[in-house]
Amino acid sequence: MKTKNKTSLKDLNSFRVDCFSSNFNIINSEKEIIDFLVSNKEPDSIILGGGTNTLFKNDIDKPILKIQIKGIEVINENNNSILISVGAGEVWDDLVNWCLTNNYGGLENLSLIPGNVGSAPIQNIGAYGVELKDVFESCRAISIETGSLRIFKNIQCNFSYRSSIFKEELKNKYIITNVIFKLSKNNHVIDYSYEPLKNDLKNNNILNPTINDISKSVINIRSSKLPDPKLIGNCGSFFKNPVVDNIKYKKLKKKEDNIPYYKMSKNKVKIPAAWLIESCGFKGLRDGNTGTYDKHALIIVNHGKASGLEIFNFSQKIKNKVLKKFNILLEEEVNIIDN
Ligand code: EPU
Repeated sequence: MKTKNKTSLKDLNSFRVDCFSSNFNIINSEKEIIDFLVSNKEPDSIILGGGTNTLFKNDIDKPILKIQIKGIEVINENNNSILISVGAGEVWDDLVNWCLTNNYGGLENLSLIPGNVGSAPIQNIGAYGVELKDVFESCRAISIETGSLRIFKNIQCNFSYRSSIFKEELKNKYIITNVIFKLSKNNHVIDYSYEPLKNDLKNNNILNPTINDISKSVINIRSSKLPDPKLIGNCGSFFKNPVVDNIKYKKLKKKEDNIPYYKMSKNKVKIPAAWLIESCGFKGLRDGNTGTYDKHALIIVNHGKASGLEIFNFSQKIKNKVLKKFNILLEEEVNIIDN
């Protein structure tokens, strides 16, 4: 473990907010986590993965544990499927590319998602019709309170849309150190039911897509409407898409006939937060050093010199306007870290 006193967090958060940590610890193994927990009785340490879903509101005095546990290992396989064990500190998209190179199927729809493997189960990352829960077998995690190791199987993680047990009842209670994925080796399940993906494949005359075709198409779509965090600071979707019941949806539809929705269950529909935000006039709007991306209203961007507080205040303006206009309270997808 390496501990530093004053560390810039600018390159460690994809919003590229310029702030400092006064207690920064780089963790390379489960043992280092346990050693840290034994010698630091600080219950509210901050666990940092790729920093791609994190907004630091200010400088951080609480200890930060930057998880850098690496490694991709095959642990079991048969003719059809394979189990791989991946360190929490591996970069998500490097894992996706490793799978594509080896022709292992399951992660291709999740191409180009920023972040690290250990953060993926927390918010059940999802895109283009697939969610992490579809390929997740289990994970290893260490209790912050007791330092003991626990294995969570898929069913025990209570995965739901952009959430899991690690975001709800066990929020900030465990540090994920390793994830096991179950992937296909042949007869891959190719899912291109998501409309924009279907259209992109069709436009490229691809009728029977391979997992590599799906990945390329997802990359095309993502790059055309989401800003590259290396070029412009952002954390992807700032808010979750709100889920409302049918009664509320019908009321909204009466007022706004063209309101888009996705059916979630018999009684519930999901409404794109981007549409609500755009309808409130925020798309492409600039507010000092921050604003929303001009090609996607759900992405808040840092135009270069925004502080965490500035970005946070702007997000609250959006939230208030949407609440006033639609009576819908948006919920942040990004983790907001306050000292
Ligand atoms: N829309 C607008 N204005 C915009 C953009 C979109 O009105 O500026 C409306 C359109 O009606 C569009 C709909 O919103 O059809 C949905 O947009 P999109 O397909 O871009 O998906 P999203 O619901 O905004 C979600 C995820 C993304 C993921 C895409 C694709 C959430 C919070 N976000 O976005 O995930 O890439 O679907 O599956 O669920 C992320 O989590 O950071 C992320 C980018």
